Amino acid sequence: MKSDRRRLLKVAGAAVAAVTLNGLSGAARAAGDSGKTKIGIVGSGRVGGTLGSVWVKAGHQVMFSSRTIENDKALAKKLGPNARAGTPREAAAFGDVLLISVPYGSLPDVGKDLGSLIKGKVVIDTCNPFVERDGEVAKWAREKGAGLASAELLPGARIVRAFNAISYARMGEANKERGRIGMPIAGDDREAIDVASRLIRDIGYEPVLIGGLAKGKYLMPGTPLAGERTPEEIRKIAATLS
Ligand SMILES: NC(=O)c1ccc[n+]([C@@H]2O[C@H](COP(=O)([O-])OP(=O)(O)OC[C@H]3O[C@@H](n4cnc5c(N)ncnc54)[C@H](OP(=O)(O)O)[C@@H]3O)[C@@H](O)[C@H]2O)c1
Repeated sequence: MKSDRRRLLKVAGAAVAAVTLNGLSGAARAAGDSGKTKIGIVGSGRVGGTLGSVWVKAGHQVMFSSRTIENDKALAKKLGPNARAGTPREAAAFGDVLLISVPYGSLPDVGKDLGSLIKGKVVIDTCNPFVERDGEVAKWAREKGAGLASAELLPGARIVRAFNAISYARMGEANKERGRIGMPIAGDDREAIDVASRLIRDIGYEPVLIGGLAKGKYLMPGTPLAGERTPEEIRKIAATLS
């Protein structure tokens, strides 16, 4: 009798868990099932290549992409079975979470190329607008604020801005002193923020939410939040920003 009741409770518990997980996005579900996530990288240069490599080392599955697939294939080969290469559209389809890390001048093309593949996906946006490098679109993005501008160029994506104002050369180092360095992030979507935060923590940074995408304008080189700081320092600076 007792064991029947226990079995019933166990089945009911599993049903509740299944319903809860089915209510979540692919990203949350994937991470919920195994703790590991499929990540599509669009722009596998200095930032995308470095972050993708540390995520592979953390056990995630990563597809690298750019317009030069030979580079992506070579990188994936070096990293082993958890890494692969594809086109940007293949990476967008593969990833439950995407990292978009291209020069801002390429972002309008990336948005058009990926189209509906990014709708509803968690997208980590590292892209910074520099007028000298990216031209008119950067001027517009700086006026609008980088977070809101990215949201307009990547319609339907659940954007979290992160990794914007530290050097790529340090992005593989945070896991040596886990939690010491803070990562200021901004986003409007609670679940996307949670999913991105987990991936950021996995490679050693402590995420610090500074606000919604409108605050993305502060996540760029040359702002008070730029550079490596402790989580506490980031919270103090963020409290002074309007
Ligand atoms: N470097 C840093 O320390 C740093 C730090 C934080 C943030 N950021 C920002 O993060 C972004 C990436 O910086 P990065 O230094 O990694 O640049 P990068 O080394 O020049 O890499 C850019 C990558 O994007 C690819 N790409 C360019 N246009 C593309 C398109 N239309 N479709 C698909 N892939 C495309 C490039 O490959 P192909 O040309 O072969 O397509 C390359 O793989 C920039 O917006 C930058 O401002 C940089």
